[in-house]
Amino acid sequence: MAYFPGVTFQGTAHGKVILLGEHAVVYGVPALVGSLSRGAHAAVEPAQHAHISFGGAPVQEESPLYTALARLTAHFQAPPVSLRLELDIPRGAGLGASAALGVATARALAQLTGRLDETALIEAADLWEQVFHGQPSGVDAAAARLGGILRFERGEHPEPLRLRMPLEVAVCIAGPPAETSAMVELVRRHRQARPESFEQALSGIAALVENAHLCLQAGDTEGLGRLMDLNQMLLSTWMLSTPEIETACAVARSAGAFGAKLTGSGGGGAVVAVGNLDAVVKAWQRAGYPCFGTTLGERSA
Ligand code: PMV
Repeated sequence: MAYFPGVTFQGTAHGKVILLGEHAVVYGVPALVGSLSRGAHAAVEPAQHAHISFGGAPVQEESPLYTALARLTAHFQAPPVSLRLELDIPRGAGLGASAALGVATARALAQLTGRLDETALIEAADLWEQVFHGQPSGVDAAAARLGGILRFERGEHPEPLRLRMPLEVAVCIAGPPAETSAMVELVRRHRQARPESFEQALSGIAALVENAHLCLQAGDTEGLGRLMDLNQMLLSTWMLSTPEIETACAVARSAGAFGAKLTGSGGGGAVVAVGNLDAVVKAWQRAGYPCFGTTLGERSA
């Protein structure tokens, strides 16, 4: 069913959870990403001047959302539009909100202009993400666009994974929103300061990702959890973890999670855990974290 009843030109896209490989993916290491059934919704109508509303409220003209929209209308050779945006995931939490908004808007504009090819959509998602992220790897946009669970490598076609059983995870919002671009810059400075140890960490994460891929295919959630813990350790050496993230991971592990780690840019935002999800969600709720359990890769957007 259409999200905006009676509106002709609309689009929708998934949020996402990166299981392993964030940040390293910017440097060519594969990442494993699962889409959320929740995400973003966009509707466009031709208008005299560009106008954007978000969650029913008008967006200030200084917002970078206007820059992003202008890039997309130019890309699709569309007239000025009135754009309505709705989001059912938190922003700035590492759950792919910005890419989901971009893909949903691009889909609505594709409907309006009849340019429905995937290449136009991929290019549009990249143009949108550049406004918010600088040089995005494209992992968020791939999950937003395709859904499912993907092995994503920069510059390659994303590979949809076939799992033996659905992958259930728990997600909590551990810290305040963080700027992805600032976190990506922090990692770039680590690389500049210590190129050798940075390369070693990249090789380490690449090995974890390949093993996690095998665990996913075999349905070995315990193994996956152990690899997620190791990925968290390597991410924390790049100063991407925070006391709030570490506490949320510790609460999850004490409640019986097989593994827990930050997901997305870090510096705040979300934590993902696998194993004993009911107990983990209850423990996070007791500790006051907003959280939810979900099955990754379900196609409903
Ligand atoms: O937008 P976030 O916070 O989910 O992070 C995106 C993943 C990064 O690897 C940190 C950046 C990228 O472009 O791949």
